Amino acid sequence: MKKGFIFIGKGGVGKTTCSAALALKLSDKGKTLIASLDPAHNLGDVYGVELSGKPKIIKENLYAMEVDTDLLTKKYLERTVSKIKDMYSYLKVLNLDRYVDSLKYSPGIEEYSILEGLINLISEEYDYIILDMPPTGLTIKVLTLPYTALIWIEKLMELRKDILGRRRAIESITGRKCVVIEGKEVSIPVDEEEDPVMKELEDKKEKMELVKEFLSQKCSIVLVTNPEPLSLFEGRRAIEALKSFGLDMSRIILNKFSGENEVTREIESMGEAIRIPLLEEPPRGVEQLKKISEVVGSVLN
Ligand SMILES: Nc1ncnc2c1ncn2[C@@H]1O[C@H](COP(=O)(O)OP(=O)(O)OP(=O)(O)O)[C@@H](O)[C@H]1O
Ligand SMILES: [Mg+2]
Repeated sequence: MKKGFIFIGKGGVGKTTCSAALALKLSDKGKTLIASLDPAHNLGDVYGVELSGKPKIIKENLYAMEVDTDLLTKKYLERTVSKIKDMYSYLKVLNLDRYVDSLKYSPGIEEYSILEGLINLISEEYDYIILDMPPTGLTIKVLTLPYTALIWIEKLMELRKDILGRRRAIESITGRKCVVIEGKEVSIPVDEEEDPVMKELEDKKEKMELVKEFLSQKCSIVLVTNPEPLSLFEGRRAIEALKSFGLDMSRIILNKFSGENEVTREIESMGEAIRIPLLEEPPRGVEQLKKISEVVGSVLN
């Protein structure tokens, strides 16, 4: 993949509209995928077509899809539960099935499944990928999750190494590679290479590093704001939050522009801004989106 784009900003500022318009422009240059990772999709409404979890061709070189994040959550939980059961098959007390249903409402799950969707997409064979994201708060959590997750994963790997070291010490004293639990002999891994928990942590680490590389080296993050104070304030906070993780906002789109004022001047003082006029009709469908795709395309310059 050559490049990815993520538009962030307050609810309703025009992220989906700008993403859809940029996708049109990019499809003139190469094979382009636009994917909505917003659980409240409206990408299909903006193109005026029905979309699903599978890429649909909109025009030559342009594919669009709406990722089913609920399905991703369900699959993620099922996979996690089955892995835990495999790893700890000797712990009969772990009756996880009871919790699966409630786990889908647990904090962090939505962010995790959106991130999972992002990971699946960045390994796809496209020249350009545009990710239509949910409003600022949730998007910031998703984009910063790999950074916080890596800190945790590295800590957990250290702990695991410690546990395996102790197991090896016990094994050298007892001379036994197995323990007997409820009359059954269960082998307990002592080496990193054969330990499924370590393997799981290594896989997770690799995935998170892939996202980190995508976000910091291959992706442009574009702030979309309207000429009104609340979207400016939220945009400013988003820039600060991303900066604290070393991520940079490459451009600003000042959408629904209808004349200079104090707020527009403030926005334009924050960085190079592209003005998109407030159109009489909300732009829907390929033909109408073309009206703004050239201007939105200047994020590429
Ligand atoms: N330049 C514009 N002129 C007129 N209407 C616009 C313009 N840009 C976007 N709109 C309209 O504003 C509304 C919100 O746009 P859009 O859905 O793209 O925002 P969003 O940031 O993706 O919202 P959400 O956060 O809910 O996903 C839509 O009705 C859209 O058609
Ligand atoms: Mg949207």
